[in-house]
Amino acid sequence: MSTSAIYLDNAATSFPKPECVYAAIDRYQRKNGRPVGRGSTDAAIELQRIVDRCRLRAADLLAATAKEQVVFTFNCTDSLNTILHGFLREGDHVVSSEAEHNSVLRPLRQLERTRGVSVSLVEIDDAGFFRAEDVVAAVRPETKLIVLQHASNVTGAIQPVEAVGEFARQRGILFAVDAAQTAGHLPLDVRKLNADFVACAGHKGLLGPLGTGLLYIAPARESELTPLRQGGTGSRSELDTQPDTMPDRFESGNHNAPGIVGLDAALGWLNERGIDAVRSHELALTEQLVVGLREIPSLRIFGHEDSTRHTGVVGVVSELYSSDELASLLSGHFQIDTRAGLHCAPLMHRRLGTIEQQGAVRFSVGIHNTTDEIEAALDALRQVSAG
Ligand SMILES: Cc1ncc(COP(=O)(O)O)c(C=O)c1O
Repeated sequence: MSTSAIYLDNAATSFPKPECVYAAIDRYQRKNGRPVGRGSTDAAIELQRIVDRCRLRAADLLAATAKEQVVFTFNCTDSLNTILHGFLREGDHVVSSEAEHNSVLRPLRQLERTRGVSVSLVEIDDAGFFRAEDVVAAVRPETKLIVLQHASNVTGAIQPVEAVGEFARQRGILFAVDAAQTAGHLPLDVRKLNADFVACAGHKGLLGPLGTGLLYIAPARESELTPLRQGGTGSRSELDTQPDTMPDRFESGNHNAPGIVGLDAALGWLNERGIDAVRSHELALTEQLVVGLREIPSLRIFGHEDSTRHTGVVGVVSELYSSDELASLLSGHFQIDTRAGLHCAPLMHRRLGTIEQQGAVRFSVGIHNTTDEIEAALDALRQVSAG
């Protein structure tokens, strides 16, 4: 196993995690090791208490009214599949955007083929933003769902989701938000978003381990979603049909207990730090990065004219190197981790005109990055760009 000196790939998964996350997982694995919701021993009760606390912390973070509206999943993709496959029916129309991750696009393409669902993708501009007006214009009488990202994993664009949510609510269309790139980085309030469903990764900004995700389902919407999986829940075992109660309706099979225990510790850590403080730290680092990048003539960055409309994700292309070459130079000579390629967002890269250069190099800052690390990354870029 190797650790890189400077990790700027937090949009893929955050690293490192807070110390308390490692400690909580280690403690669970060595001292508890029980499955969640199956048993009434002291160890099982202790574990259940942690899982309940994690759910409550997640609900608080999203401003959900009840913790039962939060479902544990295995990643953001799992949450998105639960929404899209669970909700859409034959002949439904969906509005989404070109900015979306393949975790939205691929389920939608599959549903086009298998269920005759029709999909409209609104265009984005050359900084990766879609416009709320275009989403409204794409709606048809048969539109059942609008599914949009909260922020781009390529350009960091924070999308106008609140305006879309308000419109969706007025029109009685359900609204799903992919918050993979904002949960833990920006304040999130499901009521302000007017969201029926919110999909989050537990392992990115929320600082939990890989293999964790969250799905928020607004009260009473659960009955409109068919669960992707059916099976044992540790509850209502006398029934041979899936319980309707939340969250069991969507949580079949054994939980990722080490993951949830780690996520609980991470959410506790984030609570203490405060999302506003996380945002200020990441914003300052992003501004430092963007100012430095703009001073290197061979680099082009997407968006970031107004930092308050962006997360800590910055997509860059070089006139001198392909994206793979630049990321390899940074990693090979300077031990700096970035991410080259299409970032699972092919339509975004097509719109940005970056397919030929094999995509872009993505820098993504996190709460554990420092100003010195950003300066070191800029210095490395200056060196490789000087030839
Ligand atoms: C915008 C967006 N949506 C969805 C996902 C999928 O997240 P996960 O890897 O947790 O399934 C990602 C991951 O990079 C993402 O950036």
